[in-house]
Amino acid sequence: MRVCTATACFAAQAGRHLPAVESVLGVTADDRDPDPEVSLRTVRCLGYCYGGPAALDGVTACAGPDVAGQLAGRVRPHAPPIPAADATGDPVVLAGIAGGAEDPWRTWAETVSRRTPELVRAEVASSGLRGRGGAGYPVAAKWAAAGGSPDTVVIANGDEGDPGSYADRLLMEADPARVLAGLALACFACGARHGLVLVRSEYPAALARMREAVARARADGHLGRRPHGGGVDLEIEVVTGAGSYVAGEETALIAELEGGRGCARARPPYPTDRGLWDAPTVVNNVETLAALPWIVSRGGAAYARRGTPGETGTKLVCLSERFARPGCHEVELGTPIRRIVTELGGGLRDGADLEVLQVGGPLGGFLAEEELDLPLTERDLAGHGAALGHAGLVAVDGRIEPLDVLRHVWEFAAAESCGACSPCRVGSRRGLEQVRSGVPPDEAHARMLRLMGEASLCAFGRRLPYAVRSLVRAYGERLRGWAG
Ligand SMILES: Cc1cc2nc3c(=O)[nH]c(=O)nc-3n(C[C@H](O)[C@H](O)[C@H](O)COP(=O)(O)O)c2cc1C
Ligand code: SF4
Ligand code: FES
Repeated sequence: MRVCTATACFAAQAGRHLPAVESVLGVTADDRDPDPEVSLRTVRCLGYCYGGPAALDGVTACAGPDVAGQLAGRVRPHAPPIPAADATGDPVVLAGIAGGAEDPWRTWAETVSRRTPELVRAEVASSGLRGRGGAGYPVAAKWAAAGGSPDTVVIANGDEGDPGSYADRLLMEADPARVLAGLALACFACGARHGLVLVRSEYPAALARMREAVARARADGHLGRRPHGGGVDLEIEVVTGAGSYVAGEETALIAELEGGRGCARARPPYPTDRGLWDAPTVVNNVETLAALPWIVSRGGAAYARRGTPGETGTKLVCLSERFARPGCHEVELGTPIRRIVTELGGGLRDGADLEVLQVGGPLGGFLAEEELDLPLTERDLAGHGAALGHAGLVAVDGRIEPLDVLRHVWEFAAAESCGACSPCRVGSRRGLEQVRSGVPPDEAHARMLRLMGEASLCAFGRRLPYAVRSLVRAYGERLRGWAG
């Protein structure tokens, strides 16, 4: 059994669900007993952040306040489906889910039979589309960097590790054809004959839906040798991830696909130069790929008119369980965060007050209530020490002590740091020890945060100090001095 202890599930019951589960099952989580009757593991996010606390019993999802009873067999296992809605009037990535959209495979058939890769690249360049997986890199620039070699591999990153985000799970489970057609278009644009979809092992339903969708696409003639009479071959394979937050980082994901540990590697070389088995490799997030059928069929200029001039298009935002109406919404980039929180989310459950809002997962940051008028863009969030990330929004109300939220952030860091570099491996453990000691940090802690931020190998260690500082700032007086 796997029990989620990540941020949205932690915020749901202030972390009390884990001792409750341990108590009803009579086992200790993460026990090293080699032959247990029940094996209970803590995991960080199962994609049920809208209805947690969540757990998986084998592949059966259990979610809700009675999760312990479900795991103990006292209550029938249940987990609500993802509430999803479009707030734009013309959905891009939710087009298939919100209804009335053109079949994404039709766009693929027309493209592969009548258009050129250059044309697809030009439409995507003019759309201004940036990667939705967190780093926000322009998609057309990444494709160009791969150089168009037929050895190129395009990987759909379905690892979605950010606690609080379940957008990729929604897309892979509810509209897998759009994700696959997007991947096919990306392969066509990059000259690649092979595409891979990596789905995290914590998403068994998404894995099954993606596999079924590939089989159907093959049977319908969308894949294989020269589909739709075009001049290219294309094969797509679905692979299961090995389960760790850092394994979603693109170099770690490639290491994992090569059979190694999912640890980040030093760059350069960048994956577009030497990636999977040294082939040029493009890694794109699932939501990024799902935008491609719309962009290719409606044109890059139409997409560029959406969102803001600097950050075009739409974004899926995911609201956590603490909201009165949790769920996944497609919004224009630039939508005021307050509108998302109050109009789409309905404020907090039971009229509770929002204390802090985590935006963009563990590598994003925290905002105070007074900061909610910010537009949802990378630029505006960065100005407040936060980041858009994958746009999970996790609400924390007043039932949780600020120091417990800080401890949770460091626990996540210490548990998920892959250990490949010492600033992050050592720093994340020191940060946790400090907060556990209950003694506010001194200048040495501030130096350690600076070192982590500057010398860590990947964005995990580099971003964590920002997340810590933003939390301390958002709580103001109540956490004063805790960033050192
Ligand atoms: C620690 C860490 C974890 C990451 N996890 C994910 C993930 O789960 N899914 C994802 O798409 N990108 C993740 N990324 C970002 C990827 O490295 C990469 O930028 C992204 O998949 C590229 O796709 P995009 O350009 O379409 O956003 C992560 C990055 C870091 C540093
Ligand atoms: S920063 Fe952390 S997660 Fe990234 S490589 Fe170093 S130890 Fe691993
Ligand atoms: S399911 Fe627990 S944080 Fe996402």
